Amino acid sequence: GLPPQGPGDLAGLRVLVTAGATIERIDPVRYITNHSTGRMGFALAQAARDRGAHVTLVAADTASPPPAVDHVERVESAEQMFQAVARQAQETDVIIMAAAVADYRPRHIADQKIKKGDGPAVLELERTRDILAWLGEHRRPGQTLCGFSMETTDLVENSRRKLERKGLDLIVANDLSTPGAGFGGDTNIVTIITPEAQTQLPLASKRDVADQVLSAIVQARSGH
Ligand code: CTP
Ligand code: CA
Repeated sequence: GLPPQGPGDLAGLRVLVTAGATIERIDPVRYITNHSTGRMGFALAQAARDRGAHVTLVAADTASPPPAVDHVERVESAEQMFQAVARQAQETDVIIMAAAVADYRPRHIADQKIKKGDGPAVLELERTRDILAWLGEHRRPGQTLCGFSMETTDLVENSRRKLERKGLDLIVANDLSTPGAGFGGDTNIVTIITPEAQTQLPLASKRDVADQVLSAIVQARSGH
């Protein structure tokens, strides 16, 4: 059956949650970002707090203000998020990467606004660091790592590959082609994937999804 859920089952645990969309600057007035609103990460941070955890939230760009958890740190770029997460990783029992992190950033940030007369514009991009993969390589003993995965095709296969490649305990897979799932909105439909199993949850509020994810984390930790 399900492990106990609710007040107290995360007491004593230090949980770090990332949320929102990173911003990669092009010039002083332009940037690259994505559709993440931060709501899923905020729901996770709030739910973990309600269940007794000490919660740190590392938030990039979000559509609403963050919930009142123990510590909130604002970042902009993927590199800033990496620095904030890496600095705190050793003191953290559970890390949940709900943020939508840029895979690429402009190779150069222009000091001055780029003028249209300078065109035709070609934006040269370079890869950002994969924060979760780094965490998987520098994992502290007993630490639990949870990723999120956004896919439009082959949800479970592609997500399971990410779980293995990054060395995660669980990954929460989001099918963007399903109505009611993904960006914005109050609801989500996710599949929780562990090395041993996969569980598709019914359409639920982001808060209920957050509680199910936290229960899966508790279960994964009891198997350590
Ligand atoms: N992630 C990360 N660092 C990055 C990119 C992604 O830590 N530079 C994390 C995300 O926060 C998420 C997980 O990796 O928890 C999976 O992100 P996703 O974009 O679905 O997968 P990628 O590994 O980036 O692969 P792709 O975008 O090509 O599908
Ligand atoms: Ca990506």
